[in-house]
Amino acid sequence: MRVIWKQDPKAGIFGNHINRSCAYERQWMTKGRESGMPEEDYWNSFFDAECVIRKLFGEEGCRDNVVEFGCGYGTFTFPAARHATGTVYAFDIEPDLIGRLQMRAKREAVSNIVAEIRDFVADGTGLGSGSQSHAMLYNLLHIEDPDGLIREAYRVLHPNGRLSVIHWRSDIPTPRGPSPEIRPTPEQCKAWIEASGFRDAQEIDLEECCKYHFGMVAIR
Ligand SMILES: C[S@@+](CC[C@H](N)C(=O)[O-])C[C@H]1O[C@@H](n2cnc3c(N)ncnc32)[C@H](O)[C@@H]1O
Repeated sequence: MRVIWKQDPKAGIFGNHINRSCAYERQWMTKGRESGMPEEDYWNSFFDAECVIRKLFGEEGCRDNVVEFGCGYGTFTFPAARHATGTVYAFDIEPDLIGRLQMRAKREAVSNIVAEIRDFVADGTGLGSGSQSHAMLYNLLHIEDPDGLIREAYRVLHPNGRLSVIHWRSDIPTPRGPSPEIRPTPEQCKAWIEASGFRDAQEIDLEECCKYHFGMVAIR
């Protein structure tokens, strides 16, 4: 977790140097532990992202909206947008990553991605309850409060909506990923997912798409 001091945009009008609290507001940013990204090409080299999305979305794809928690470089955002008829809402706390993703979507004329800077740990997604068909939680459940994210995914999904998860395996050596001791196992993910109310949680074999990862899907 990191704390920043953010200058109040109204400081020029109402703030003054005598009362510092008028000029600054304290803003908590709850970026998950060990969730920074390495260089983009290196990160992408670990995944056949198209293959991952095909396996987790199913051959029929998603017939409506998708929410992605922590989109990073958009490794999975663009394939998801190709496999969804609705909008992909992609959130990340890092302004640079969102800026890059927005520019790429514009350059490639992808019109069904809405990328937004957002701290979803502190503030949730801001999406309406039951408004989404698919929720993606990829390489993120090692953060401090995984249950909170799973509960938010449950809230925004409509009944029969699908949750998909991928994460670095901890049962084999991997060239990258968070510290092994904080990586959730498939069993741990299943327990969290079912405790949040999802049903039919099942592990998906991702060996041919990303050999260092496991996958899971569940139904709301
Ligand atoms: C390890 S990366 C995974 C990116 C992407 N899901 C993928 O697998 O390619 C985790 C991402 O979550 C973002 N993140 C971490 N904490 C967050 C928070 N509280 N709110 C929004 N994004 C967050 C990070 O900035 C980072 O881009």
